[in-house]
Amino acid sequence: MDKDVSGTFSALLQEDRRFPPPPQFAEQANVRDAGVYEEARRDPEGYWAGQAKQVDWFTPYQRVLEWNAPWAKWFVGGTLNAAYNCVDRHLKTWRRNKAAIIWEGEPGEQRVLTYRDLYREVNQAALALRALGVGKGDTVAIYLPMIPEAVVAMLACARLGAPHTVVFGGFSPESLRERINDAKCKVLITADAGYRRGNLVALKANADAALNGETPTLRHVLVVQRVGAKANVTMQAGRDVWWHDAVAPHAGKEIAPEPVDAEHPLYILYTSGTTGRPKGLVHTTGGYLVGTMTTTRAIFDLKDEDVYWCTADVGWVTGHSYIVYGPLANGVTQVMYEGAPDWPDKDRFWALIAKYGITILYTAPTSIRTFMRWGAAYPQRHDLSSLRLLGTVGEPINPEAWIWYRDHIGGGRCPVVDTWWQTETGMIMISPLPGLTTTRPGSATFPFPGVDADILDEQGKPVPLGSGGYLVIKRPWPAMMRSIWGDPDRYVSQYWSKYPGIYLTGDGARRDEDGYFWLLGRVDDVLNVSAHRIGTMELESALVSHPAVAEAAVIGITHEIKGQAPAAFVTLRGDVEPSEALKKELSDHVAKKIGGIARPEKVFFTAELPKTRSAKIMRRLLRDIAEGRVVGDTTTLTDPTVLADIKARYAQEEA
Ligand code: WTA
Repeated sequence: MDKDVSGTFSALLQEDRRFPPPPQFAEQANVRDAGVYEEARRDPEGYWAGQAKQVDWFTPYQRVLEWNAPWAKWFVGGTLNAAYNCVDRHLKTWRRNKAAIIWEGEPGEQRVLTYRDLYREVNQAALALRALGVGKGDTVAIYLPMIPEAVVAMLACARLGAPHTVVFGGFSPESLRERINDAKCKVLITADAGYRRGNLVALKANADAALNGETPTLRHVLVVQRVGAKANVTMQAGRDVWWHDAVAPHAGKEIAPEPVDAEHPLYILYTSGTTGRPKGLVHTTGGYLVGTMTTTRAIFDLKDEDVYWCTADVGWVTGHSYIVYGPLANGVTQVMYEGAPDWPDKDRFWALIAKYGITILYTAPTSIRTFMRWGAAYPQRHDLSSLRLLGTVGEPINPEAWIWYRDHIGGGRCPVVDTWWQTETGMIMISPLPGLTTTRPGSATFPFPGVDADILDEQGKPVPLGSGGYLVIKRPWPAMMRSIWGDPDRYVSQYWSKYPGIYLTGDGARRDEDGYFWLLGRVDDVLNVSAHRIGTMELESALVSHPAVAEAAVIGITHEIKGQAPAAFVTLRGDVEPSEALKKELSDHVAKKIGGIARPEKVFFTAELPKTRSAKIMRRLLRDIAEGRVVGDTTTLTDPTVLADIKARYAQEEA
């Protein structure tokens, strides 16, 4: 049997394996009664109202849900404050001196913040922001490394009722500027630099380049000193303020949490879609907190004794929902790590687990595949017996990686929860409940209680068991996005128009004979590279902004580690000579425009791109070529010979 065939064969065998919850786990699980599914199905609003009791409200809400499709209002009339729920209320309990965040820097320093410490820091930071003119409704951009100040900054904004927009530290100055301007931010919070694989990430220098007189709404930049003299930053008088100077006058002082309406925006988070520009998804306060708190408790089975670690960056939605709001509202102890998994060696994650006795680990399939390639010897160096639950998120997980994770990291004893959700959904939507669900490697299993997921065909009819179609959500859920910032029409057209009143996820899915959901990846022009979303149109606009490029089409190709990787087909301007050097230059150009994660894996030059008569680039055909498949229907092409030419060149370059 050749390698490929045996690989597929073993994948099929593993998909067939079933893992019931280990009895000892099931006995102690937070959710033990399978009746919860039926209860939530019969009365979804009643179910969510029950969950809303976990949140501290300043004013009780009058109605659970007001639904004028596609516009939702949850917990209408209620007021609350997210920072109060994540911090203040724990001070009234024994948790006041419980560790909230155990942080480790990449170079090895350690900081522990108890809930009381967090309270002090959030108050000081909120006062510092207020002194810089930030009040309720003002937007604040956050561009920080994975340091405790990132969490403090988010909670300080929430305390004031000022929506934050966190921008991942790997994004370019241009991407940062675009987000600051779209969200009309008043203040930017950044750091002098961060550490990554022993190198410095020049955040402040990037921020300077982003601002450069082109961010009209921005008044101040608050700069956390993470690295010190080595970072060698310039502070612009009148605009830039050191974080430590700004918070110092407020030591020991408090500011009351601003009571906000349940529907007050908590944050805006930009994500890639099918157009050239990322869209700012708006999440509000009450429903979001209820949704993230509930799912964190039920899916990660959080207990007060747990040491939880989500390896995501706060720049992504996973960091928002499952580092900051869900876990802290539950009063968890969590580990936060600043740097790379292979620094100083490829066992850093396992060293952290052993060092802090981590019990719950939540990471992405792309990382698991990387660890698989590095080999089991690295985890074997460390005692991982503290782990009791494993989770994954961000992309479909292949059964081999799932099994490897279960065996080599979880020692065969920990349930694995494969959690499907999106920036749009705010909370986990399809996932096992670890004390109840019999898992199957590669399947996210079943919708969470109260989540009405279905799979529809082109006409909007549910597909029969065993077939695939469009994954949709048929009923509103509390943590759902409420709109696209500044573009409500796009919210309606993109998500709620294919099937009116039904939320279109953009993912394909299949349900098997037993009703298990299997996610099949995106069905639109969005790539999933190392569990990060990038729109093909964004990549294409970055490419055509280079003077050598006339036209570009970007597709996703299968990548062993990253899941998908961008490949670019580029038509050069008439007078430009193709060369290997130019390919590299174009890749670098994209990385510079958007950020390192967007760098194309491959660039191909082609005389023309395959287009329909209405001038639409047929990416589907390019994908067929790149994946070595039989090329699909070409009857709508203006000039079918274009394709033969690309195919021949592709084969030549791949050889
Ligand atoms: C994909 C990340 C399969 C999916 C939380 C979705 C997944 C997109 C899974 C959202 C999973 C996320 N199995 N696919 N468990 N989790 N995805 O907005 O394509 O960064 O639409 O949110 O990631 O990515 P986003």
